Amino acid sequence: MKILFEPARIKQMVIPNRFVRSATYDGMAGPDGHVSDPQVRLISDLAAGGIGLIIHAITYVHSSGQVSGFMNSLAEDACINGMRDLTAAAHRRGAKIAIQLFHGGREARFVKTKNQLPMAPSVIESDPYYRGSCREMNEDDILSVIAAFGDAAGRAKDAGFDAVQIHGAHGYLFSQFLSPFTNRRSDAWGGTLENRLRLHREVCLAMRRQVGEDYPILIKLGVEDGFPEGLEFSEGLLAARILAESGFDSLEISSGVRGKKYEGTEYRTKINQTREGYFRDWAGRVRQQVDKPVMAVGGFRTMKMMETLVRQNDADFVSLCRPLIAEPDLIRRWGNDPDIRPVCVSCNLCLELLHKGGALHCVMLRKRAKKTSAR
Ligand SMILES: Cc1cc2nc3c(=O)[nH]c(=O)nc-3n(C[C@H](O)[C@H](O)[C@H](O)COP(=O)(O)O)c2cc1C
Repeated sequence: MKILFEPARIKQMVIPNRFVRSATYDGMAGPDGHVSDPQVRLISDLAAGGIGLIIHAITYVHSSGQVSGFMNSLAEDACINGMRDLTAAAHRRGAKIAIQLFHGGREARFVKTKNQLPMAPSVIESDPYYRGSCREMNEDDILSVIAAFGDAAGRAKDAGFDAVQIHGAHGYLFSQFLSPFTNRRSDAWGGTLENRLRLHREVCLAMRRQVGEDYPILIKLGVEDGFPEGLEFSEGLLAARILAESGFDSLEISSGVRGKKYEGTEYRTKINQTREGYFRDWAGRVRQQVDKPVMAVGGFRTMKMMETLVRQNDADFVSLCRPLIAEPDLIRRWGNDPDIRPVCVSCNLCLELLHKGGALHCVMLRKRAKKTSAR
């Protein structure tokens, strides 16, 4: 298991081991997206628990991209100070910390945008779920979103983050541009794969201008949508290659556009699958094609599987989300006993809780503790 505890580098960032805490929305931000004390405690616990790199939760860079009232913001300079507390909490305990910069696109149905429709690459008349609920972005909208990502990256660096990651998966703005199902544009931002990736590349350039050449810019990339007419893996793989060659320094490999509306067709959400490392084949295929570090994410639960993956060079890092909600100290304990099985059973009650506006915790563990104390 030694290899998982060996340091590795993404550009100038030396990560003490191969474990990444995948970005995890926590529903705990304060008013106007400021950092709250519970968030600082969460980051402290994770860092003390032995994780190498923490990717802090979805953080909006432009008010049009906000999906919840309890998420962080880097849309304004006023948010920088609070973010310094997060980065200091991670660094004090030896972890690196990145922040996930985010725009929800057509999913940005937060109350603040109630009177303005959320923006999307295209309005799909044949899609009853979205018809009438979003508007097509014009060139000015796109340019202002690009500028907002650049500015937010500058603020992230100022706040002490070691890297930024853009959320290019799970059906949010970047996924919507990449997917041929959600992007029906016929201008320079749609059509060919190169055009559907233009937003990603322009955002990378805008961020690079703010943070300089040595600073790591990462992307979580959805490489397949998983329903008819959506992004196919063959194109997702090509997209990964193009992005690695266009200035992104590491790719975390996940799924693309998804959601309840497509269930009942061929689409099945893979987050519920229990097969360990359910996207690992995608990560391995991407790893063979790019010469940038790759993070594998999705259902990793045993040291044996993670070690095999890294040893075989199918990924450089392994990213975990749900197991660390229940046990933020799992990595340190794995270091002492690699046979520990995480208590997380991927029940997704944590996700349901967040959708109802709750603050992140392992619902199952808390229920269990309540039962025990009632006895
Ligand atoms: C509670 C919760 C919050 C999440 N928040 C984010 C997020 O902010 N950004 C993101 O890219 N993915 C988010 N995800 C997805 C995870 O990062 C990860 O890709 C997914 O849960 C699979 O990894 P796991 O099996 O280790 O949980 C979230 C998932 C859960 C369960």
